[in-house]
Amino acid sequence: MQKYLVGYVSKNGTTKEIAQKIGSILKENNFDTDILSLEEIKNIDQYSGIILGTPVYGMKLLPEFSVFVEENKNIKNITGFFVVSYLFEVGRKMWKNAIQKDIDRFKSILIPQSTAIFAGGISKKMPGFANFLFGLPKGLPLDNRNWKQIEEWANEIINKIKSK
Ligand SMILES: Cc1cc2nc3c(=O)[nH]c(=O)nc-3n(C[C@H](O)[C@H](O)[C@H](O)COP(=O)(O)O)c2cc1C
Repeated sequence: MQKYLVGYVSKNGTTKEIAQKIGSILKENNFDTDILSLEEIKNIDQYSGIILGTPVYGMKLLPEFSVFVEENKNIKNITGFFVVSYLFEVGRKMWKNAIQKDIDRFKSILIPQSTAIFAGGISKKMPGFANFLFGLPKGLPLDNRNWKQIEEWANEIINKIKSK
């Protein structure tokens, strides 16, 4: 029986909820799927396809994600890699470039079949100076996640698995 994994790291729960959404779409499509935080993963070799997700903090992917990738450098079957960032699409170009640089570094290690960058969410408004520093537009919602985009990506992943 083929088994799939959605593995995530999350500090404030938004990436976890995205992982759960992607995992539930796989399950609805009859794929046997584990949805686990990276620290809960016991045997990574049992999975036919792996989807990994991490948020961006301080313009970098979380250190916990970095450690996990370092420890599992040889995993090959990365079907999907998703990154959750509040600033990527809406912030200043320099931040976008910095985040993209870190994403590219991990892409070159993981060689995922598909990569997505999703808008994230924060729990409270940033101070005015931070909005200016990051170049955030006025009136940006605290939770900027686009569930339609997330669902579409999950379906793209399913099509990739099916066409294998
Ligand atoms: C302390 C802190 C630092 C953050 N730094 C960044 C950042 O550098 N770039 C970015 O795009 N988003 C940044 N964010 C936003 C997070 O990426 C976003 O809120 C994400 O959805 C958090 O995921 P989580 O809830 O799974 O931890 C930051 C959020 C916090 C609270």
